[in-house]
Amino acid sequence: MRVFVSSPLPGDAIERLRAIADVTVGARVGDAADTGDWDAIVALLTDRIDASVLLRSPRLRVVANVAVGVDNVDVDACRARSVVVTNTPGVLTEATADFAFALLLAAARRVAEGDRFVRRGDFHGWTPTMMLGARVHGMTLGIVGLGRIGRAVARRARGFGMHVIYTQRTRLDLLLERALGATFVDLDALFEASDAVTLHCPLTAETRHIVSAARLARMKPTAILVNTARGPCVDEAALAHALASERISAAGIDVFEDEPRVHPALLASERAVLAPHIASADRPTREAMARIAADNVVAILTDRPPITPV
Ligand code: GLV
Repeated sequence: MRVFVSSPLPGDAIERLRAIADVTVGARVGDAADTGDWDAIVALLTDRIDASVLLRSPRLRVVANVAVGVDNVDVDACRARSVVVTNTPGVLTEATADFAFALLLAAARRVAEGDRFVRRGDFHGWTPTMMLGARVHGMTLGIVGLGRIGRAVARRARGFGMHVIYTQRTRLDLLLERALGATFVDLDALFEASDAVTLHCPLTAETRHIVSAARLARMKPTAILVNTARGPCVDEAALAHALASERISAAGIDVFEDEPRVHPALLASERAVLAPHIASADRPTREAMARIAADNVVAILTDRPPITPV
């Protein structure tokens, strides 16, 4: 059996695959090493898995995406060809929630800006008015998408004395809302009431540009936007404009509309904290993501049910 892994992976994932198949490790789907005719593909979120990829591997049985989001995979096309698609839910929940908080804290308290300031040699001594930021403790935090990651963020928010509001398509049951200390509001109300908005929704037709110019205009001028979900959930040009015109105060952004490109006005903004799509990048998490992807492939190729099908 032939397995294509679109990039080197951390941990023992590739060894686990080699125990049952011939494994080719490439640099991405569609590169020179990708000769097609695979039984399984381990894909990254940077690989586009569409009908043309399926066509080149008529025997393909499984696409194991090393991500929880599967917006890079044409799931319908896979389904039509009986190709199983798997993702990596659960293992990256806490890492991503940690990082959403890292971005929120960094954006509110001007950590990255302060770092640049010190390195430039501009720190000439403490003053009571230098680099005043937003108060994180006690904020109203608006969570868009209270799934696994959103809930992990809500749990952290409690430790910061935050008031948590959330929105998503289907409201949670009251007991769960109460356990999380989260109040349901509609999308526009969330943008209006929040001191910080953090996105934890998948990228779908419905959530593309969910943060639009109109929604940014509803936010408080002191508000902060955090995005660790998917870049296209935010209209990046509108966000850059909102920061430049001080329509909102700061942003912590881990994902971009057209990665690895970043809107030049975001790069120019002192109040945008920018990260290179690393919210799930603590070592144990990335090793676990790779291992689940490999184990899904092993399961399918040995005629067992997938562990985490989409
Ligand atoms: C990372 O971005 C993921 O979807 O797992």
